[in-house]
Amino acid sequence: MTHDSSRADAATARQQEVSPAHDPRSAWFTEARFGLYIHWGLYALGARHEWMRSREFMSNEAYERYFRHFDPDLYDPAKWAKLAGAAGMKYMVVTTKHHEGFCLWDSKLTEYKATNAPCGKDLLRPMLEAFRAEGIRTGLYYSLLDWHHPDYTVDVKHPLRYDEAFVARDALRKWQNYVDYIHGQTRELLTEYGDIDVLFLDFSIPGEEGFPGKGKDEWQSERFVDMVRTLQPNTLINDRLGVPGDITTPEQYQPREWIKIDGKPVLWEACHTFSGSWGYHRDEESWKSTEQILRMLIDTVSKGGNFLLNVGPNARGELDERAVERLEEIGVWMRKHQRAIHGCTASPAHLPACPEDCRFTYNPKTNRLYVHLFAWPFKQLHLANFSGRVEYAQLLDDASEIRMVEGEKKLTIEAGAFDEGRPANMLTLQLPVKKPKAAIPVIELFLKS
Ligand code: GLC
Repeated sequence: MTHDSSRADAATARQQEVSPAHDPRSAWFTEARFGLYIHWGLYALGARHEWMRSREFMSNEAYERYFRHFDPDLYDPAKWAKLAGAAGMKYMVVTTKHHEGFCLWDSKLTEYKATNAPCGKDLLRPMLEAFRAEGIRTGLYYSLLDWHHPDYTVDVKHPLRYDEAFVARDALRKWQNYVDYIHGQTRELLTEYGDIDVLFLDFSIPGEEGFPGKGKDEWQSERFVDMVRTLQPNTLINDRLGVPGDITTPEQYQPREWIKIDGKPVLWEACHTFSGSWGYHRDEESWKSTEQILRMLIDTVSKGGNFLLNVGPNARGELDERAVERLEEIGVWMRKHQRAIHGCTASPAHLPACPEDCRFTYNPKTNRLYVHLFAWPFKQLHLANFSGRVEYAQLLDDASEIRMVEGEKKLTIEAGAFDEGRPANMLTLQLPVKKPKAAIPVIELFLKS
């Protein structure tokens, strides 16, 4: 065996230890780790949450004013794509249609679309082109709910669920027409817009308050998935269709550990907002800080997941300034630390546990372990049971060496006369007193193979 092939074998073995049922279709996805979610539709005009129509029980007529005024004159998707690329995002997922029913693309199956609004153009196509030009993969979100379609029946989320006359007309609604519509629109999206890397279908509704639910039987999900697999076998599908998909998608929630289904770790992606709303929300003030977002990204990767971070562009077609500022700051950190994110995953089970206030991410190809320090300690970071495992350590910020001591420290007069009691298997990293400038400092450990 040549040296090179044994090195490749070792890398494969490490890969297998850290990734669940390795599927070549999802290799790009786990490599990417970080994506941009985009929620954009008529609700950007209302600027008070993408669910405003349901929350305010608005009729089609009342909501129509947003359609009549949707004219994003400053829309320049190349700017969005550049910002995402600089922030280290490797894929995007955009709402082609949200629950309101409005379509960003020129669908032949409806008149309720961007080409018929004052902006008068397909907004999806230039967006996908702009992101692809930045080397960013493209995914589509498509809402299974539709509060505008005449054959969509009432459920517990419907804006007109308490309008008796509207509910009474449910008996006249032709559900199969609606199913044909969602399957047909998805077919359009998967045939006319190039390679679609992710399809995010949203969502199945449990029956509640006397309203019937909608799930796999209503969406005819098995047939739906078959169609997607036939049209684009490599598209990764999420898990909200009521049948198993490729990606498990916790929303605004950080799992405690690698997500498991039936005891087996799965491919997963956490999606998060900067504030509480997905669509543009002018007055919301609960924005997370850049550092908090970075900690969430790192925490996700340390548990083997992907992080999909949302922006809600406004109705001029621009990203919220608060998002731009944070994405730029994320980019500052990612420029130096992306190799602790891209291609990384959870630390392998055979390695000892992570110290307090830190997260480990691990690259199985390079066999490097990254220690992300959420809190900067005083001078020493102790890694229990790590003696003999690390060949070299450096601060990722500037590639400055981090010196290491194995086992017990010899007592000195200055240290005081007490037994520090560091066991021989404890590896201690000698840190500078002053925290480096990076929002979250990272130490890169080159493990012995
Ligand atoms: C949801 C919400 C929503 C948002 C989404 C994000 O289920 O209905 O408004 O688009 O999930 O994944």
